Amino acid sequence: MVYFDNAATTSLDPEVKAVLIDVLDTFGNPSSTHAEGRKARALVETARKEIASLVGCTPGEIIFTSGGTEADNWALKGAVRDLGVRRILTSPVEHHAVLHVAEELAAQGLCDTRLAPVDSRGDVNLHWLEQELQAAQAEGVSVLVSLMHGNNEIGNLLPIKEVGALCKKYGAWFHSDMVQTLAHFPVDFSQLSLDFSACSAHKFHGPKGIGFAYVKANSGLHPFIHGGSQERGHRSGTENVLGIVGMAKAFKLSHERMEADHQHMRALKAHTIERLTTALPGVAFNGASGDLDNSLYTVVNISLPEGDPNRGMLTFALDIKGFCVSGGSACSSGSSKGSHVLEAIGSGDGLRLSFSRYNTTDEVDALVDALKTV
Ligand SMILES: Cc1ncc(COP(=O)(O)O)c(C=O)c1O
Repeated sequence: MVYFDNAATTSLDPEVKAVLIDVLDTFGNPSSTHAEGRKARALVETARKEIASLVGCTPGEIIFTSGGTEADNWALKGAVRDLGVRRILTSPVEHHAVLHVAEELAAQGLCDTRLAPVDSRGDVNLHWLEQELQAAQAEGVSVLVSLMHGNNEIGNLLPIKEVGALCKKYGAWFHSDMVQTLAHFPVDFSQLSLDFSACSAHKFHGPKGIGFAYVKANSGLHPFIHGGSQERGHRSGTENVLGIVGMAKAFKLSHERMEADHQHMRALKAHTIERLTTALPGVAFNGASGDLDNSLYTVVNISLPEGDPNRGMLTFALDIKGFCVSGGSACSSGSSKGSHVLEAIGSGDGLRLSFSRYNTTDEVDALVDALKTV
């Protein structure tokens, strides 16, 4: 089996697995004041500090959640409920954890959701964004901008500093889903005009069902989940100690290996683009994914030439041959609907290959050979 679906999820790092097994024995409730509870509390708070120190924020700005989806939901719903936001500016290429929330809030009449135009490459029109921000400021409407940092399907990268500066200039709140970029690129929250962000551990060889929300200090966001006031009152529920410690370990390892991993996967991606271009004449690279220096180094998204009878059957055919790839976004798997991202940029069926540090050029070569035969 060859696994090329790392944007959907990654395998557990063996070092993370070892830590998880170790932590299984720390069964205390972090809220308990006795020794067993204090042991668990120490693990949780050490993890929080370690993560915060790697992304340039204070530990209090890291709030553990069940993953990226919860962090995204919290930012959007919280901004409307607690911060007086009445307009959300987002884009049609966002993950559904943002897009469906923004649509739902609009459907409930709680805010006006506007989608930025994207070009055929999938880049958001920042000129439109500035005009919208200007208009909203003139109307006195409070705005949340929600634009993802790295697109999970087509690899586009948002100029996040530029967008942050625009939001600051016009007094808008800024949320960026960074599920595909945190632990893959260096991120320093202190240098970004960013209010909220989302992270998910299973995208960087950590466990599933754990992530964090970055919530800038004194943002005014109220809790999304109420109960026993864990996470300093921001997110109730007994902490997922195992997940939190596993995520911190995976986060640390990813930062230690970031430069080497980046170089490895960049070379792998260059090789993939080169091999596909020669082996499959007419192959198209969707979004920014064919642009080696300006996209996620983990993602390549291709379409076969129009009229190819195998278009649409590729993931199935490759699966039979032992290759795990994705037809679009596996994040909403089970749905037979095509990718809303490819639709937004006018591409048909896509085939997404997404890499991890464990992939090799031999695997790429085997995939290209398999693609030629199917
Ligand atoms: C960009 C992006 N945002 C959000 C999510 C959701 O994260 P989670 O699976 O942790 O809920 C994913 C993937 O699943 C993603 O790729």
